[in-house]
Amino acid sequence: MARIIGGLAASHVPSIGNAIAKGLQKDPYWRPFFDGFIPAQNWLAEVKPDVAVVFSNDHGLNFFLDKMPTFAIGAATVYASADEGWGIPVNDPWPGIAPLSWHIANEVVAAEFDPVICQEMLIDHAVCLPLACFFEQAGLNKGRPVKIVPIGINTVQLPVPSLKRCFEFGRAIGRAIESYPEDLKVVVIGTGGLSHQLEGERAGHLNKEFDKFCMDHMAGDPLPLTKVSSMELIEKAGTAGLEFMNWMTMRGALLGDVHEISRAYHIPISNTASAVQVLEQRPRMAQAAE
Ligand code: DHB
Ligand code: FE
Repeated sequence: MARIIGGLAASHVPSIGNAIAKGLQKDPYWRPFFDGFIPAQNWLAEVKPDVAVVFSNDHGLNFFLDKMPTFAIGAATVYASADEGWGIPVNDPWPGIAPLSWHIANEVVAAEFDPVICQEMLIDHAVCLPLACFFEQAGLNKGRPVKIVPIGINTVQLPVPSLKRCFEFGRAIGRAIESYPEDLKVVVIGTGGLSHQLEGERAGHLNKEFDKFCMDHMAGDPLPLTKVSSMELIEKAGTAGLEFMNWMTMRGALLGDVHEISRAYHIPISNTASAVQVLEQRPRMAQAAE
């Protein structure tokens, strides 16, 4: 059976791609950001996942404001990246695992969620750059052995699903993954956040205290996070801070006992409070005893 070994979370910002393309990882501005991934890379080198299920929000490559699915599941055999306008090299495609995507789609629809299922999907900076930082920058994933299932969540345009709904969607996805018959080690990844706002009078808004509250509750005690309303999340974390919904969905997929392995937090990268967190999932004691 497939097994979820843990969850990773990381911010995504397009300028990370620029920094990688220019080799700025040791530059004083970038070093604290890239160094924040080292514990995650060490953990990944040890646990060696076969599949990454990646929760993120599309930034206009697949969906625009005229058509915006609440939840979208990628079910392709390969996911190409595309030029996002920075003039930097386009990331290599990532292989998919369509049978697992379809299994997840079937199970979550049976659990009364209604995603769009995308047999073609492009992946943008929100997928490629966290994957680059977790795997490629450490020389992990040579030859791309890790396959991905990208899952899009509308964190962009109201009405957005609540944190509670995202958490429950994550739970349904966790159960779906754990019922997949193939022996696969799966890591779930949530990207985006933490606090940031890119437009309007509050552009540049960051909230260190609220970000800490979010990270403190990710491992053992996520339920208070599900009680934060979308409007409160915007107020506290900024409009683009809604991307924390991707973290919450990832956390929902962890059904066992969850332990924090590491975290990093650095303000700012571009306009964003950047954060990395590693959560390991161990089987529940009760299940282990059965
Ligand atoms: C920035 C942050 C994002 O989440 C994003 O998608 C684009 C840009 C930024 O901080 O510049
Ligand atoms: Fe974003």
